[in-house]
This record gives sequence, structure tokens and C-alpha cells, in this order.
Amino acid sequence: MSQITKEAILNALSTVQEPDLGQDLVTLNIVRKLEINDGNVTFTVMLTTPACPFRAKLEKDSKQAVMAVEGVQSVNIKMDSDVPNDGRMRGLVKMPIRNAIAVGSGKGGVGKSTVAVNIAVALAQAGARVGLMDADIYGPNTPTMLGVEKLPPPNGPRLIPAEAHGIKMISMGLLVKPGQPLIWRGPMLNSAIRQFLSDVEWGELDYLIIDLPPGTGDASLSLAQALPLSGAVIVTLPQLVSLEDAGRGLNMFKTLEVPILGIVENMSYLELPDGTHMDLFGTGGGEHLAQITNTPFLGKVPIDQNVRIGGDTGRPIVVSHPDSPVAIALREIAEGLAAKVSVAALGSKNDIPINIVE
Ligand SMILES: Nc1ncnc2c1ncn2[C@@H]1O[C@H](COP(=O)(O)OP(=O)(O)OP(=O)(O)O)[C@@H](O)[C@H]1O
Ligand SMILES: [Mg+2]
Repeated sequence: MSQITKEAILNALSTVQEPDLGQDLVTLNIVRKLEINDGNVTFTVMLTTPACPFRAKLEKDSKQAVMAVEGVQSVNIKMDSDVPNDGRMRGLVKMPIRNAIAVGSGKGGVGKSTVAVNIAVALAQAGARVGLMDADIYGPNTPTMLGVEKLPPPNGPRLIPAEAHGIKMISMGLLVKPGQPLIWRGPMLNSAIRQFLSDVEWGELDYLIIDLPPGTGDASLSLAQALPLSGAVIVTLPQLVSLEDAGRGLNMFKTLEVPILGIVENMSYLELPDGTHMDLFGTGGGEHLAQITNTPFLGKVPIDQNVRIGGDTGRPIVVSHPDSPVAIALREIAEGLAAKVSVAALGSKNDIPINIVE
């Protein structure tokens, strides 16, 4: 029997394409620990995110390609991941955060916090290290949505994030007494946001998801400037009025040169008991906005009262009803987003890093 060579295996794997990154596994240099023992081939595919939407397909295609090499009797593939750093030098603010993603819109009440919380938990469920920063200093909701009542005791001057459903989180809602009004002046706002970024012991994170306050006001602006964001996700409702606001949010990020990773349309439709869809808030707006602004469309999230119930009781829908259409939609959005972040991170490797001026 002829000897199987590593070259033959790599040759076979160079026919397997990663659809998002648009290159094959060998060119992407994500085949690791290749070992050949007689006819048994073992290797690891190091994905750029544990939430890779093509995980199963890549495993199947790799197996098929390698099995076709003469002499191969069995293939053992380990699917692992290493999330690329977007290269934006967040280290300058002493944060080992590989990618920071803001979730915003131009308008209140469209489901930013719901989307941010569920995306964060879905990424953690896939195996990523995730943090959630609730930057809505006017009306922080994420403690309730995640069922968190208080932060652990601080480590000296440094805050320790709370942990819930596999993610780390911090929120202004945990730093003030319940019911106490939150009134912020410009400089306080700025320093609070900076503190949130630099005085929290996040540890190493693959993704930091940031829930922005509604609108295009001070908080969103300070934040987008204080932290080199990998990009922003815009949440909108399907109707025209909301789109105009979402468009304003989108323009704010564009002005600040924050890449728009995609648009999410929330409360897209209500599924009736007979399976038909009722478009309560119009239809198709998110896709339309994506089209006219040349922005990726990440997906539609239907209306389900369990979203609200889960939000009120600290159990995000991806945890409480993981098989519901809403949870499936949110997971797919999280995967699509992770893929976009990987593409952006790999593409930005040669960019000039942004310097943070203290
Ligand atoms: N797809 C959905 N189906 C049903 N209810 C939803 C859905 N998305 C969000 N909600 C509910 O709508 C309300 C507003 O959502 P959320 O707080 O996430 O919006 P927001 O944009 O963050 O609001 P704000 O501008 O006040 O920060 C919440 O009660 C939430 O549970
Ligand atoms: Mg909110």
C-alpha cells in the first residue's frame, strides 16, 4: 500500500471552501495537527468562530474530500475555533477583547436590548467567550432580562462582571439603587462609559456585545469614540417610520467610521395558529433598508410573547424556548454576525491601527 502524504491530504482539503471567507481551508491556514497513521487521518479545523454557520457542512465536506484520497480508511476531524482579533488595538486601553460589537438603532423600543442579550447568550451557547455591556445609562434593562440582581464584590478599584447564562455582563442598572433616577451630564457620561470599558475585569473575550441606548445621542457617540468597535448592528422594525430612525442610527456609525455589520428586523410578523403570518408592523422594511444602504441583512425576528415574558423573568428566549422560531432566528442572526465579524477581522489585519488619545 502506498504511503499517504500530508501533501495529498492538504491537496484534498484545498478543495473545501469556507463560504463566508470565500477561500479554501488550506489557503486560510485553518487545518491544524494533521496526523496520518497508516490509513487513519486525524486533524483539527480551526474555525474563526465557534458559532460558525457552516460548521457541519465544513466537517462533512472535509471528511468527503479526505476519504477520496487513495489509501485513506478513516478520518477523524476535530472542529475547534480561535476567534481572530480585529486588530483594532484595544490592548491600548488594556482590554483583551478580540471584537466589540455595538447594537443600536435610531429609535427606542425596537428590541435592541432583546437582540443584544440573545445574541450574546447564543454566541456563548456556541462556545464563545462573551461579555455584554449595557451602555444604556438612561434605562438599563439587561439585569432584568438576564435575571441578575447584583455584581460580585469588586476587586479593589476594579469591577467584576456578573455572570448569567454563560456570559459576563455589566450594567449601570447594577451600580445605582433601584428606582433612583439616572441623570447624566456630558462629562459624567463620558467617564462612566470609559470606566465601563477600562475598570471592569472582563478577562479574555471573543466578543463584547454592547447594548446602546436609543437614539443617536451623547452616549452612543461617546461609546463609539471611546472604544474601537469592530462594527455595529442596527435593529429596526419593518415599518417606514422606524426605518427612517434606523437610517439615522446607521448614518451616525458611518460618520464615525464604524463598519455596519448588518441590519436585524425585529417584530417582523406574528405567526398565527394556522401557520400563516400576520404583518403587524408592515413588511420588508429591514431588507429594503439593507438594500438601499448596501448593508448586509442579518435576518428577521418574529413576534412571540415568550420573548417579553423571558425578558421580564431573566430567561432569554434562546434559553427558555431554544427550539422556538424566534430563538432559531436569533441564533442564525448570531451566527451570521459572527461570520461577518470574522471576515472583517481577517480583512482588517493590514489596516493601520487606530490610536486612542488619552
Ligand atoms: N420579537 C419580539 N417579540 C415579542 N416581544 C418583543 C420582541 N422583541 C422585543 N420585545 C419586547 O419589546 C419590549 C422592548 O424591547 P427592548 O427593551 O429589547 O427594546 P429596546 O430597543 O432595547 O428599548 P429601549 O430603547 O428602551 O432601550 C420588551 O418588553 C421586549 O420583551
Ligand atoms: Mg434597550
